[in-house]
Amino acid sequence: MVIVIKVGGSLLKLGPPENIVNDFIKTMQVDKLVLVHGGGYEVTEVAEKLGKKQRFVVSPEGIRSRYTDRETVEIYTMVMKGKINSEIVLALHSRGVKAVGISGFDGATLVAERKKRLVIVDERGRKVAIDGGYTGKILKANGELLNTLLEKNFVPIVAPIALGTEGEPLNVDGDRAAAAIAGCLKADKVIFLTDVGGVLIEGQLVKEMNVEEAKRSMRKVGFGMDKKIMAAIEAIENGVKESIISAGNIENPLTNSLSGENRTVIRP
Ligand SMILES: Nc1ncnc2c1ncn2[C@@H]1O[C@H](COP(=O)(O)OP(=O)(O)OP(=O)(O)O)[C@@H](O)[C@H]1O
Ligand SMILES: [Mg+2]
Repeated sequence: MVIVIKVGGSLLKLGPPENIVNDFIKTMQVDKLVLVHGGGYEVTEVAEKLGKKQRFVVSPEGIRSRYTDRETVEIYTMVMKGKINSEIVLALHSRGVKAVGISGFDGATLVAERKKRLVIVDERGRKVAIDGGYTGKILKANGELLNTLLEKNFVPIVAPIALGTEGEPLNVDGDRAAAAIAGCLKADKVIFLTDVGGVLIEGQLVKEMNVEEAKRSMRKVGFGMDKKIMAAIEAIENGVKESIISAGNIENPLTNSLSGENRTVIRP
C-alpha cells in the first residue's frame, strides 16, 4: 500500500518523537510511506524570538489560520524546511532510512494560488477583507518527484510550503497538503497523527464516519480538528480509500491507526 502520514506540529515540539520514528520504520517494511509534517508552534516560537509578532485570523466559517506576510513566509520557510524537515530527515538517517526532505515547491509537488483577499472576522465580530498575503490555496499536487523517489526506495519527507504561480513560496495547511499529496499518489490511506485520539464529539471518540457524517461533524468540533476533518474529506474526494485521524503520542501510533479501534476512520 501507499500511505501518506501527516505528523502534526503538536507532536513535534521537542523534535521528531521516537515512538513515531520507531513505528514508521516498522511500517515502511511493508508499505510505501510519504511523511508530511506540520510545525506551526515552532514557527511562532522562532518568529517571536526574531521579534516578528505572529497574527492569527479567523474566517467567517470559523477556521483559524496564521496571517502570513512577506517576512512571515520567509520565517515559515526557514523553520519548516530548514529546521523541522531537516530534523525528521536526520532522525530517520540515524536509523538507516534513506529519507529525502523536500518542500511542496520542490519539483512543483504542490502548486498553489495566492489568496488575493482574505475575509476575516474582526474583534468586534464584523466581516472585513484584508490582503491575502502569502497564504495559498492548493491548485494541484504533482506526484512526479515523489513517485521517482518512491521507486528508488527513498522516503520522502514533505514540508507544507507550496509553489505560488509567480514562483513565490506559499504557506499551505499541512493537513490539506497531505490530502492533496495522497490524492495525487492514489494512496490507499492518509493518516493524520495528532495529540488527541481522533474526532471527539461530546467527549466521545467517533470511530467511523462517512463523508456526509464527517461534513456534519465539522460544526461540532473546534479549531485544529475542523481543518483536519476538511482535509480528511478532501482526500476521500480525491480518491483515497480511507482517511484516519488518530493519536501520535502513544506507542506504535501507526500500527494503532491501521489495525486498532481507537481512531477515527472516514470512508466514502
Ligand atoms: N472535537 C474535537 N475533537 C478532537 N480534537 C479537537 C476537537 N476540537 C478541537 N480539537 C483540537 O484539535 C487539536 C488538533 O489539531 P491541531 O491543529 O492543534 O494539531 P495538529 O494538526 O496535530 O498540529 P499542526 O496544525 O501544527 O500540524 C487537538 O489538540 C484539539 O485540541
Ligand atoms: Mg493542525
